[in-house]
Amino acid sequence: MPEDRLVGDSMKNKNVVVIGTHWGDEGKGKIVDLLTESVAAVVRFQGGHNAGHTLVVEGNKTVLHLIPSGILHPTVQCLIGNGVVLSIPDLFKEIKELEEAGVEVRNRLMLSLDCPLIMPYHIALDVSVEKERGNRKIGTTGRGIGPAYEDKVGRRGLRLRDLLDEQQLLFKLEGILKQHNFMLEQYYGAEPVTLEACLAASLAYLDELKPMMGDVLSQLAMLRRNGQAVLFEGAQGALLDIDHGTYPFVTSSNTTAGAISSGCGVGPLHLDYILGITKAYTTRVGEGPFPTELHDSVGIHLAEKGHEFGATTGRPRRCGWLDVCALQRVVEMNSLTGLCITKLDVLDGLDSVAICVDYQEHSDGQITPVYETLAGWQEASVGVKQYQDLPQNAQVYLDRIEALCGIPVDVISTGPDRAETILKRPIL
Ligand code: IMP
Repeated sequence: MPEDRLVGDSMKNKNVVVIGTHWGDEGKGKIVDLLTESVAAVVRFQGGHNAGHTLVVEGNKTVLHLIPSGILHPTVQCLIGNGVVLSIPDLFKEIKELEEAGVEVRNRLMLSLDCPLIMPYHIALDVSVEKERGNRKIGTTGRGIGPAYEDKVGRRGLRLRDLLDEQQLLFKLEGILKQHNFMLEQYYGAEPVTLEACLAASLAYLDELKPMMGDVLSQLAMLRRNGQAVLFEGAQGALLDIDHGTYPFVTSSNTTAGAISSGCGVGPLHLDYILGITKAYTTRVGEGPFPTELHDSVGIHLAEKGHEFGATTGRPRRCGWLDVCALQRVVEMNSLTGLCITKLDVLDGLDSVAICVDYQEHSDGQITPVYETLAGWQEASVGVKQYQDLPQNAQVYLDRIEALCGIPVDVISTGPDRAETILKRPIL
């Protein structure tokens, strides 16, 4: 391991990033929650409430979609950067659920004034576009994410700050509604969206929103000047990145570490440690290529033992062997410092385990994975807290991933609870 990549220098790793390395659902929520113990703030910088971050603390399960996973730690600030598309009704649904569970949210949550808003017409368009695509559909979460980013890039979208000027808001909304309702009615044959529905999903919340609106860039700059640690929480995974992912079967944001600068205003030189969260096997929700997908009894084992159902939509996840061939590209595109391997215990009890190390391309354009097969392990790894206590063959599996990727496996998750974690090297 190169010396300049060593972690554990608490003066150095102030800005730590967590990124999913495949198609999301790698178990980022738990790791963010764990690392949050040592930071002053947690930041979301892309995506929206399409994400589903499941946290289990002392047996209690919380699923977060929009609010950073740091919210369960009472002293930590939670920031939503300008790169996040914001559905205001869904934000308040989540705030209220947390408040009902006794979590104080509003004093610790800051929303960038520049967040693009997800409006009811975005949801209507997302659903209509998917319907129109038929069997070419992307398999979106139906949350309006893609159409909201389209409006942002088309320079006609509404931002949170637009709610502060009611007259301007009405003027802008009328224009946007004219365009989107034309498409909804005339092209997709769907119901139009009313101005009232749009106001109910935005302006109606203004008084509650105002105290949470802020300048996230300045807040992060201040934390940095004060030498305080910050955690950047990626949503989805690198292979769902709009540029680097399996286009067009991707989400509509950049999900890779490069998105941090544009998505919350922290320059690239200020990132100290970038942790890639990798499930010990690979899963995917929705459509699109998945070279290592399994349709046999091992695939069923992974789905059942790993409880592989989407946290946002409840859809069953497709399961397969770990794709290290894709992971090597992800290490590169994110300049990952280290890996965290999650759900290792799901592989317990298999006779053998396989790692995809290459792809074979066929003349018809199909690609098939080339596997390296390793011996499995029968002993339980669930809940193990020390690396040396892991089954011997599980250690061989992890060491092989490390060697193939050229970066260290610094964290291993052996169960859903915070306590079920092996920290090989401290990160913060
Ligand atoms: P969208 O983000 O709703 O537009 O969906 C685009 C693709 O990204 C679909 O294949 C979704 O299943 C996938 N996707 C979006 N968010 C997540 C996530 O948090 N985990 C896993 N897949 C996701």
